[in-house]
Amino acid sequence: MNLESARQFWSEKFPGEPQVFASAPGRVNLIGEHTDYNEGFVFPAAISRRTFGLFRLGEDEVSLISQRLGPNAPFHPESPPRSKGWGRYACAVCSALKDAVGSAPPPIEGVVLSDLPGGGGLSSSAALELCLASAWNELAGYQLPKEDLAEIAWVAETRYVGVQCGRMDQMASALGRRGHAVFMDMRSLDWEAVTIPDGLCMGILDTCKPRSLAASAYNLRVQECARAVESFAERGADVRSLRDVTSEMLEQATGDLDSVAYRRAKHVLSENERTVAFRSALESGSLREVGRLCRESHESLKSDYEVSCAELDAMARSAWNAPGCVGARMTGAGFGGCCVALVEEDRWPEFERAVKASYGMYGFREPSIYPVAADDGAFARRI
Ligand code: GLA
Repeated sequence: MNLESARQFWSEKFPGEPQVFASAPGRVNLIGEHTDYNEGFVFPAAISRRTFGLFRLGEDEVSLISQRLGPNAPFHPESPPRSKGWGRYACAVCSALKDAVGSAPPPIEGVVLSDLPGGGGLSSSAALELCLASAWNELAGYQLPKEDLAEIAWVAETRYVGVQCGRMDQMASALGRRGHAVFMDMRSLDWEAVTIPDGLCMGILDTCKPRSLAASAYNLRVQECARAVESFAERGADVRSLRDVTSEMLEQATGDLDSVAYRRAKHVLSENERTVAFRSALESGSLREVGRLCRESHESLKSDYEVSCAELDAMARSAWNAPGCVGARMTGAGFGGCCVALVEEDRWPEFERAVKASYGMYGFREPSIYPVAADDGAFARRI
């Protein structure tokens, strides 16, 4: 169990007792990709792979030890954020907390462990941010609600780590609920937990392809969408984000938009529709429809948004043809990373075998394929 392994690691690193156990999940997005920074809809679930740790109030510096990555460079809570090492996430969360509560949080010390693969598109950075923000929240007695912690983690990532992502990952890690996916409106930031039907499990189909281009290509997509918005606004439309653009408006603008901006907008608009339809299909048990929408989402991300890659396409195709597969598609930013599949639970072994055999024929590096459960969001508790 996580608490036991954290206690073991703590006892190797610190004398005395910890005060708080904190834990935050990674996430997988069922559908609604590259829509969050366009104020659209997303439908992620927190997963049963988590980052967790034990913490206590420190003397004067923030001093943390990661089981995987070693100690952070200790820092004073008042000091400006750093740009190097895994500890920059701790600095970033500390700075974002300071912005939110008006003064620097107290120094803390602790150990951080994780069974969530890093850098693979399952939001390991959001999980780390939420784990630390939750620990601080408990130790400093802020009593901030989880929506605020999500916002603080997002500010940490965008303002202080410097990644221009949307809010989905941090909200999913904060708001997840066991057995549920979380439908989110990224304009109003309203959200609702939706039951994942009994008998289905989620499969992570990790291509293990490093996502080296992901950051620059991601920022480029953000700009391309902004360009599409600008071009509507220039022609007098009341458009603040792609959420304000209808398919009719887009079709009428075909000649005015450059072809790249047109295809990016087309993906975002159609993906928003698919995300709403997917939710209804899941709620009414129309699993065929769920599968169709996943496939369309993948095709749109591949052709119109151009964020897939040969490995993700091969993985999705392998899953579509495997027994027990309800639906599968690439998930997260793209350019490597994972596909997600909804799979009939009792057919998981057959599914896994078939996907491995089919994907193996393409000659890519060995993938990592495993089932996950939809899990609860971040928490911290006194021990
Ligand atoms: C990354 C970002 C999210 C979201 C997805 C794409 O995971 O961090 O905010 O934009 O890509 O849907």
